Amino acid sequence: MRKKFVAGNWKMNKTISEARQLVAELQPLLEPLHNIDRAVCPTSLALPAVADMLADSEIGVGAQNMYWEESGAFTGELAPAMVAEICQYVIIGHSERRQFFGETDESVNRKVKAALAHGLTPIVCIGESLEENQAGQTAAVVSRQVRGGLADLSPEQGAKLVIAYEPIWAIGTGLAATPEDANAIHRDVVRPALAEIFGDDVAQRIQIQYGGSVKPDNAAAFFAQSDIDGALVGGASLKAAAFEGIAKAAAEA
Ligand code: PGA
Repeated sequence: MRKKFVAGNWKMNKTISEARQLVAELQPLLEPLHNIDRAVCPTSLALPAVADMLADSEIGVGAQNMYWEESGAFTGELAPAMVAEICQYVIIGHSERRQFFGETDESVNRKVKAALAHGLTPIVCIGESLEENQAGQTAAVVSRQVRGGLADLSPEQGAKLVIAYEPIWAIGTGLAATPEDANAIHRDVVRPALAEIFGDDVAQRIQIQYGGSVKPDNAAAFFAQSDIDGALVGGASLKAAAFEGIAKAAAEA
């Protein structure tokens, strides 16, 4: 049985003091939910403060992005070792990174390898655009992203991954995929693609989160699906009560 994993992607929200306040509210609510994995992914600036607060906690901390090089002249970037010093997770290839910052399956692949080399768990984001969805290309796009983003990884490395399937048209729109449609992508497209690369045993162990307008009132329906192993949550992770609602739904699934 795969453990459910609920992660909050705060995106470009929360100053350091706001981040501290949210964690102070969130920690007592999430800490007792021992049967699920949970994590928060604040901005890079707020990461040290949040990591300090959660140093002795079961709640993991993740960065929203990083670069693949070890160090050097890469103005504005974070090196894997810097992230690994205070984080357990790193989100890689979020659709907003692909859309606004030119990330590709190839850059995702480099970052995933760098993250794994530094002991970080990458949360690898995949998902189709509205146009691709309407053109019936979802399966093709998602399998291409899985194959490209995870190229040349060993089964041992594969076992350390988390995947987040986030249809772009569902992100921040209030228009979530139906749990059945999302599950069909997880079960019939993503997991088989993982099985082709890493073998069935490893593929069965990888947590595949759904992301895109997950809220407390629709979370349980997602988590009841066979192959939805949690959620990557944007908007609803910015309020303690809403994120707690989603985490509780996962804990009770
Ligand atoms: P949303 O974002 O929950 O606000 O739709 C999800 C994400 O982008 O990870």
